[in-house]
Amino acid sequence: MKILVLNGPNLNMLGIREPGIYGSSTYDDLVSKIVDHCSEKGIDVVCSQSNHEGELVEMIQQAYFDKVDGIVINPGAYTHTSVAILDALKAVSIPAVEVHISQVSEREPFRQISYVSYYCFKTIMGKGFDGYIEAIDLLQENYGTSSKS
Ligand code: DQA
Repeated sequence: MKILVLNGPNLNMLGIREPGIYGSSTYDDLVSKIVDHCSEKGIDVVCSQSNHEGELVEMIQQAYFDKVDGIVINPGAYTHTSVAILDALKAVSIPAVEVHISQVSEREPFRQISYVSYYCFKTIMGKGFDGYIEAIDLLQENYGTSSKS
């Protein structure tokens, strides 16, 4: 199966950015962890990151034409503001899981709304990088045709 892992703004700054909240590992560490896991599980994975809302919308649209089977998305701050990203997910109708590294539910009031959660079938938060692995496994369990699909 084919999975797209999409990260939004400032997630390229992992390791530098607020390590007390997001940890000291980098975005490249995250990508390596995901790629290693997916190669063990026979999943074809692409990891992308953008600081731009429109680019994230375009990557979601492209996933439709690339016949992606599942999307893992951490929209960063756009989680709390972007109807456009929600609409893109609805437009392509690809199963999606929302991931947040931090425990967003225990943070500021302005982080308590998530637009993408209106579409994603599951939200995983507060589990650090492991949340992405859990999301990939969930997509494979629910939408993969076999363990090597
Ligand atoms: C985040 C949480 C968001 O509120 C924040 O804007 C981020 C990262 C997380 O992974 O915990 O950029 O999505």
